[in-house]
Amino acid sequence: MRCVLAFQVLLCCLSLAQPFCPSQCTCVFHGTRTVLCNDPDTAEIPVNVPLDTVKLRVEKTAVRRVKTEAFYYLTELRYLWLTYNSISSVDPASFYNLKVLHELRLDGNQISTFPWEALREMPNLRTLDLHNNRLTSVPAEAAAYLVNITYLDISSNKLNTLPSDLLDIWSPFSGMISTRGSSQKIILGLQDNMWYCDCRISKLIEMSKMAEGPVVLMDPLVTCSGPENLAGVLFKRAGTGSVR
Ligand SMILES: *[C@@H]1O[C@H](CO)[C@@H](O)[C@H](O)[C@H]1NC(C)=O
Repeated sequence: MRCVLAFQVLLCCLSLAQPFCPSQCTCVFHGTRTVLCNDPDTAEIPVNVPLDTVKLRVEKTAVRRVKTEAFYYLTELRYLWLTYNSISSVDPASFYNLKVLHELRLDGNQISTFPWEALREMPNLRTLDLHNNRLTSVPAEAAAYLVNITYLDISSNKLNTLPSDLLDIWSPFSGMISTRGSSQKIILGLQDNMWYCDCRISKLIEMSKMAEGPVVLMDPLVTCSGPENLAGVLFKRAGTGSVR
């Protein structure tokens, strides 16, 4: 009897020692803490996520925006996946204090403008996934914030060109690679956009043809959408002669 009672007391205290888990989420601990929030009725990023969370996934919810300093208390967060929600608005201070964040995935949302300067808050970020959104352009200023990113997926958006400042950070001839270590490959997802293959992206087209270059395309079958004479032509086949 006493044994049963002691056992119940133990169970009770063990459950008290478990950190609180938001009702829309599942919190698991296998060496590190992972929190998954995928209740389709969730309209806001859950608050009160356990402080020791290393991986947070908010997936397939009705969340439409990421508010300022939404994760500031999650200082151990390394993986933040906000995938397949309805996010159209990301505040420039959304990712404040995520100093050890390694991976940010926002694929499958409705983002048309991404606050690139927000990357300043995440000096350890290496993976940025913006696949399947509504981006129509990437500003030249973004280049300064993307220098440490080694995996960038901007495929399935509405991009037609990229600024030359950005192409320079991936170019084997710009001298910027050496700061990152020459063996470090940059993995880029570019497919399924509206690429207008003129001289503005000729560097990108040349890079995509290099077998031993620093850039590796996730899908090598990137095609031009324009000009008319190159519509549907693979980057690989778009000769520099035809790109003016
Ligand atoms: C790039 O990495 C360096 C070294 O880790 C860091 O000091 C710098 O803040 C990072 N830059 C950005 C924009 O994240």
